[in-house]
Amino acid sequence: MDSPWRDFNSEKGFGQAVNLSKTSQLLKAKVPRHVAIIMDGNGRWAKSRLRPRIWGHQQGVTSVRETVKACGELGVAYLTLYAFSDENWSRPAAEVRGLLQLLDSFVAKEGQNLDDQGVRLRVIGDVARIPERTRESLSMLCNRLQNNNRLHLTLALSYGSRGEIVRACSKLAHQVEQGKLRAEDIRIEHVAQYLDTTDLPDPDLLIRTSGERRISNFLLWQLAYAELWFTDVHWPDFRRAHLQAALDDYASRRRRFGLTDEQIQALT
Ligand code: FPP
Repeated sequence: MDSPWRDFNSEKGFGQAVNLSKTSQLLKAKVPRHVAIIMDGNGRWAKSRLRPRIWGHQQGVTSVRETVKACGELGVAYLTLYAFSDENWSRPAAEVRGLLQLLDSFVAKEGQNLDDQGVRLRVIGDVARIPERTRESLSMLCNRLQNNNRLHLTLALSYGSRGEIVRACSKLAHQVEQGKLRAEDIRIEHVAQYLDTTDLPDPDLLIRTSGERRISNFLLWQLAYAELWFTDVHWPDFRRAHLQAALDDYASRRRRFGLTDEQIQALT
């Protein structure tokens, strides 16, 4: 996948030099190519309405539907949603069951709608932990939508960034063990290639709802140069206007990728 960086075989280290032409494209783009969202606040939203937490998650599916639609219409090419973290497995069994049922019902009901909108679907995370029946229906839906390319939707499920990086390191270690790669030749791009996101560009914009200002083990590697946008709105209330506000703010940001003002000016 296109990267703003090119490998830099520095004698001094493992750094990268900036690919100026790709960086110039990123700097000029006023709409983020890739938006990643931590959909937070479902539980609190439900609790404040004296309803069970799972009701908050159910209402959150409407926000997912609206955000997917709005991203397609606003020209966002990639949308990644943090739908179930590694840590979420430790929640009460009834909530975990409820979340998996919501996922099943999303997969069963949304296929046609996603297809009509030209959405391609991917899943990232430790999918082996997801029940087989859910995994199979997800995989069938991903296959069905694989030729779409208006919006690339990725669901992070059973996902944790540290675990993802460890899995990538383990695959690299195997390459070294088998003599296919020398340890001293490992570069940033080798690691990136073994991450679940190997087919995706890095996110340009991270949105987190519900007033928390944390990354929570989400795309730690991939968010290295992302712009961050936080809102107090809880996920079930998140609508197109909130997304638009985030995109407007993004358009006003001055990204730098470690360059100087003069270099940025020359590139834009
Ligand atoms: C965090 O809110 C949200 C989640 C753990 C689940 C997100 C899931 C959905 C929005 C619905 C399912 C999505 C799909 C794609 C089918 P929280 O419960 O941690 O909120 P809290 O911090 O208020 O407790």
